[in-house]
Amino acid sequence: MIPKSFIQDLLNRLDIVDVIERYVPLKKAGANYAACCPFHNEKSPSFTVSQSKQFYHCFGCGAHGTAIGFVMEHGGLGFVDAIEELANSVGMIVPHEAPAPGQTQHKVAPDLYELMQSVTRYYREQLKQSPRAIEYLKKRGLSGEIAARFGIGYAPDGWQNLESIVPNYQDSSLLETGMVIVNEDGKRYDRFRDRIMFPIVNTRGQVIGFGGRVLDKGEPKYLNSPETPLFEKGRELYGLFQAQKAIRAHQTVLVVEGYMDVVALAQHGVEYAVATLGTATTPYHVQKLLRLAEQVVFCFDGDKAGQKAAWRALENALPQLVDGKRIGFLFLPVEHDPDSFIREHGKEEFEQLLHDSLPLSGYLLRELTAQVDLNTPEGRSALLERAKPLLIAIAAPAAALLLRKEVAALAGITQAELEGLYAIKPVGAPARRVPQKAERSAITGVRSLLRCLLAKPELAGELPVEWHVEGNDAAAVEALVEYLREQDHVVSTAAIIQQFQGTPHETVLASAEADILQWGEEFDVAAEFLGLLSRLRDEQRKQQLQALHAKGLKGMNEQELALYRQLSQRG
Ligand code: GTP
Ligand code: MN
Repeated sequence: MIPKSFIQDLLNRLDIVDVIERYVPLKKAGANYAACCPFHNEKSPSFTVSQSKQFYHCFGCGAHGTAIGFVMEHGGLGFVDAIEELANSVGMIVPHEAPAPGQTQHKVAPDLYELMQSVTRYYREQLKQSPRAIEYLKKRGLSGEIAARFGIGYAPDGWQNLESIVPNYQDSSLLETGMVIVNEDGKRYDRFRDRIMFPIVNTRGQVIGFGGRVLDKGEPKYLNSPETPLFEKGRELYGLFQAQKAIRAHQTVLVVEGYMDVVALAQHGVEYAVATLGTATTPYHVQKLLRLAEQVVFCFDGDKAGQKAAWRALENALPQLVDGKRIGFLFLPVEHDPDSFIREHGKEEFEQLLHDSLPLSGYLLRELTAQVDLNTPEGRSALLERAKPLLIAIAAPAAALLLRKEVAALAGITQAELEGLYAIKPVGAPARRVPQKAERSAITGVRSLLRCLLAKPELAGELPVEWHVEGNDAAAVEALVEYLREQDHVVSTAAIIQQFQGTPHETVLASAEADILQWGEEFDVAAEFLGLLSRLRDEQRKQQLQALHAKGLKGMNEQELALYRQLSQRG
């Protein structure tokens, strides 16, 4: 757990304009900065960054957030990774509160990254000096340019080559990064010998591991770095760093199995492919990729193993489905993998297959019904049995609803019967209408109050102790004031946005953010706020009076009478 106070300090220390400029060139536009939005395709800039308030907002697609949110969304990073990266960039060290039981933590010394960097440089240098390795890459159709783009190198034959690039071959860093292996006699030797080396790079561009391929026949064909403090297989994807830009441009990410598939696809102009690292696709992978693009397409080899990998990917994707985003499956002819297919048939035919890829729902239903006879009750019951764990795993409401309906229909039962059978909560049943309390005299200005508090959080201190508002956005204002009052110091606009990210109030706050961006530089928030306060007080007084009137003088108790006198005196 990262303490909240650290997040606030970090947001205070950063300048969101610097952070975003690293990825997107910004232009000054009035009080703010503007650019074409990196999160959707557009021709005129509606992506706006407020330097004074430290947040961004896109008037086109609604993307919004703080510097932390930007790095998460742009880089597809998780919250903690985004914070690590930003803290790093301003020289802050992230404190971690005691981890929850079962969670492990490891510290990464920066020199491990440096070591990996020098090893990469060394392997690339060695490639230039090995005609045999160069010949191999050429034979596989790779240009020098693509090899350079992926940092491909060559680990020469020999047991202790890395000795030449480190001050001390016995240093623990070589072991920690998995670059050497220790044998039973305690002797060290290089893990990778006589192999083509594919550096595995994280989304920050740092090398965290390697995959090494034999040039000729040999076992194992691929040797990968072990899991190290730098490298966790289930979280990383080969090629993601290089593919980021194309993924955003195409709003598509293609997931393949092999290093060579990624590189060969890029060689032929399909630059939005990534590969899992010899592991199954994890739910974490799916989550990360769905943050980056509208569509994730899995393309595994046409063989049995590929089919199995596709099904695993489907199982792990179900809990991560996001309504409105598409997951597809592309099945190649049995004899092909993406590398051989694109080499033989070219980019156009490959992208045609991609275009025709089977949607997740289609794949799911096809497999579920593959070996059952729907003409018999036994067959239909088998279908229901098989479908159960899969349907239960889906959290996205629309996807869950549609697939339940489909499976129920195939089994010849109703959705309600299926839900009863599985003992799961119904989705999509019409919500019982809650009788709406008529919005009596909807207090104008609740939204405006929200804007003022968001723009100048210190104004919360000026609110009377007892206050209340009504109307659509009342809950958001109340939550905001409660949060501000809990803090022992004034927090920034960015800290508020970060705090409410992912809560039910996020959308209301986002539209208030958009309004703030449109205020001119001379806009006087404090004056607006004071005007509002007096209007709110008037409004409340009017309501109280009305209520008392309704009771009539005879119906009031003493307290109420006193209040009535007091209220009617004023104004
Ligand atoms: P090429 O033969 O170079 O075209 O390889 P490929 O990319 O087509 O690889 P393949 O389909 O054989 O394997 C896919 C991925 O599985 C590789 O990129 C590796 O990550 C992993 N892999 C393949 N073979 C081995 C192996 O022998 N050991 C380990 N640990 N991983 C392997
Ligand atoms: Mn291959």
